[in-house]
Amino acid sequence: MIKVSNVTFHYGKDRPAVLKDIDVTINRGQYVSIIGHNGSGKSTLARLLNGLLLPEEGTVEIQGLSTANEEEIWKIRHKVGMVFQNPDNQFVAPTVEDDLAFGLENLGVDPEKMEGRIRDALERVDMLPYRHTEPSRLSGGQKQRVAIGGMLALHPEVLVLDEATAMLDPKGRRDVLDIVKRMNEEEGITIIQITHYLEETLNSHYIYVMDQGQIVKEGTPTQLYQNPDLLRKLGLDVPFAVDLHFRLQNKGLVGEGFSLTSEGVISALWT
Ligand SMILES: Nc1ncnc2c1ncn2[C@@H]1O[C@H](COP(=O)(O)OP(=O)(O)O)[C@@H](O)[C@H]1O
Ligand SMILES: [Mg+2]
Repeated sequence: MIKVSNVTFHYGKDRPAVLKDIDVTINRGQYVSIIGHNGSGKSTLARLLNGLLLPEEGTVEIQGLSTANEEEIWKIRHKVGMVFQNPDNQFVAPTVEDDLAFGLENLGVDPEKMEGRIRDALERVDMLPYRHTEPSRLSGGQKQRVAIGGMLALHPEVLVLDEATAMLDPKGRRDVLDIVKRMNEEEGITIIQITHYLEETLNSHYIYVMDQGQIVKEGTPTQLYQNPDLLRKLGLDVPFAVDLHFRLQNKGLVGEGFSLTSEGVISALWT
């Protein structure tokens, strides 16, 4: 579905490489997280996925379409929806509904189909009652749900969320993550979630860890969190349940069994 092969990227010739020889393969329907501390190259990689940036070396392919091919780039933009960190930078129109319409117009969607698509997309992110609201009146979490709705209206196959929850309060964050999970499970949309909150990666099928422009580790959450010290060395806070498990294990209070939820860790205490 998505194939990033041997990609290297610099912002300007005399600058150091921001991405070095990146290889990432993501299958259809997967929920993948990309983690890494600030400046590790996550957003640059995200922008390469829908051709906002082009690789200097290597290739980025979405379902066999290359971002380097100008004729294919529009098809790719229909397939790959992006949601960014700052909820306030994603709106251009006076109402929620108009904002979605603007996005559809931009990608040349038939005007007759727009109303239905907008309605459907807002329903899927639980924001239909706000369709006539001014975006500036929404909470951060609601704004991000509208931004996701705007992408869903384009019928994407992949959603890339670049720290989309970073500026939200806990409730906003939970609501956004719930919707993302639902889109993955119920609609089979491939999810690429970029985050430095490792707590948010526990639903992922697979995780890539970036550091200094490279993928330094990859695996399922269970595989990756078996080695929390590596993540800590990279400046990342491991999920609460993982930290708890290893603290208890050091004291001999839980066995080798490994759980990614606090409930799981606590039940291991009694067995
Ligand atoms: N537009 C840009 N121009 C020049 N350097 C940039 C630009 N965007 C990011 N960088 C640099 O590229 C590196 C990786 O940044 P970025 O991809 O934003 O990482 P992350 O999203 O993991 O924080 C950083 O050193 C950053 O300063
Ligand atoms: Mg970033």
